[in-house]
Amino acid sequence: MNSWVTKCLFLLAMVLIIRTLLLPNTISFHVSKNNEIELLKQGNVRMKFLEVPQIVWGLNNQKIAFARACLTSRMLNRTLLMPSLSASLCYKEMDRLQPISFDKVFNFERFNSLCDGFVRVSRYSDVRNESNLIEVQKGSGRRWTLERDLDQLKEFSNQDYDAYETIRVVGKNPFLWHDHWPVSDYAKVFECLVLVDEISKEADEVVSKIREFGSETTSVSSYQKPYVAIHMRIEKDWMIHCKKREQRLNMSSICSSKEEITTRVANIQGLKPQTTLYLAVANELLEDDSVLNGWKQGMHPVDKKRLGLTEIYKNHSYLIQSAIDYEVCLRADVFVGNSYSTFSSLLVLERTQKMIKMGVSHPCGTDVRWPSYAYNIEGESGGPRRWMTNFSDSSLQAISYGSNSVSC
Ligand SMILES: *[C@@H]1O[C@H](CO)[C@@H](O)[C@H](O)[C@H]1NC(C)=O
Ligand SMILES: *[C@@H]1O[C@H](CO)[C@@H](O)[C@H](O)[C@H]1NC(C)=O
Ligand SMILES: *[C@@H]1O[C@H](CO)[C@@H](O)[C@H](O)[C@H]1NC(C)=O
Ligand SMILES: *[C@@H]1O[C@H](CO)[C@@H](O)[C@H](O)[C@H]1NC(C)=O
Ligand SMILES: *[C@@H]1O[C@H](CO)[C@@H](O)[C@H](O)[C@H]1NC(C)=O
Repeated sequence: MNSWVTKCLFLLAMVLIIRTLLLPNTISFHVSKNNEIELLKQGNVRMKFLEVPQIVWGLNNQKIAFARACLTSRMLNRTLLMPSLSASLCYKEMDRLQPISFDKVFNFERFNSLCDGFVRVSRYSDVRNESNLIEVQKGSGRRWTLERDLDQLKEFSNQDYDAYETIRVVGKNPFLWHDHWPVSDYAKVFECLVLVDEISKEADEVVSKIREFGSETTSVSSYQKPYVAIHMRIEKDWMIHCKKREQRLNMSSICSSKEEITTRVANIQGLKPQTTLYLAVANELLEDDSVLNGWKQGMHPVDKKRLGLTEIYKNHSYLIQSAIDYEVCLRADVFVGNSYSTFSSLLVLERTQKMIKMGVSHPCGTDVRWPSYAYNIEGESGGPRRWMTNFSDSSLQAISYGSNSVSC
């Protein structure tokens, strides 16, 4: 009798195990069925795709490259296949770029729902026939002009290419492609890039640490405590790069020393004493504390090290660290950056967009929320110059390669 019960239980257990093993298939079947229905609803009976090379370099160069790939796919009336980003910052060694899937950094579903009707990203599993593909080399070199590039894109949107489910662009990373779109189109794509929860939670933690730090120095409750974020580009390799650039352009307002930054920040009108300054600096600068010295009385600088966050940051790849820093600067009450930095420029773009959405009609005016400044250009009373993004610009040139036109 006992052994009979045991046998029954054993059989039951086996049935359960087999069911569980089979279940994932059933689920994925349902998902792909839903996808198909979704596609039919959109009237795209046969979706077509664009595939681009792995996206590389700094976080913001990657965001621009991604947006350019999206806008290209929009022009070709295709959906962008979810590209690989790069977790590490390697300029030369391509094999050490550590590909990281787009949806490990940005929320895939949110992207498509926010950008619905404008651009769309698809998963590779949406492709029905992987061999129905054409590989296309994008032109390059001096003689490959903006016009020729546009002609090539027009050709790809031609009906001859309709037969191919996927167009795979090979060659240069999209950041280096020619630009055919106005700033406002890029801004629409950037708006849809929302960090995945794990990363944005870490940014929340950093922001609350900064605000708590502020409340230790004053009596304001920590939640309300405002902070100024300063994106300081003073690392050795940046200084070498920007000095060269100053020589080439015969200008003197690209590089700013630490002294110039502290002096200009000290002269920002309207910053009350007991202000917390969050210094967004490269990790190499965290090695010594000198970056925290020399600020005006009443301004309290903090960096990741002083906040006790180096361990959290160290746990992440370069890309994720940048994404957290970016978010922290985006939420700052005041932002001060360098107008020749892509990181700073994209921040100002998103901050300007936020102000315009809140109904601020003069983003350069005094007494507005979320002002941004460029410390490399002198403004009023020896302070940094106010800075906003001009959304009427017809290309992203100013932002992607840096400029001193700050529209204020
Ligand atoms: C883009 O695709 C949609 C649906 O597939 C189609 O209705 C539309 O005509 C296409 N537009 C162009 C310019 O090819
Ligand atoms: C997939 O595409 C290739 C190339 O266009 C074609 O030869 C093949 O018949 C297609 N397969 C199916 C199952 O449609
Ligand atoms: C550089 O600019 C200065 C004034 O800003 C000017 O006097 C000088 O001639 C310029 N040099 C060159 C090589 O263009
Ligand atoms: C770092 O990551 C490991 C594994 O992902 C985790 O166990 C650990 O708690 C993390 N450390 C910090 C300080 O977040
Ligand atoms: C913004 O850009 C447009 C087009 O390039 C230009 O006409 C306008 O003067 C610019 N506005 C500012 C404030 O720079």
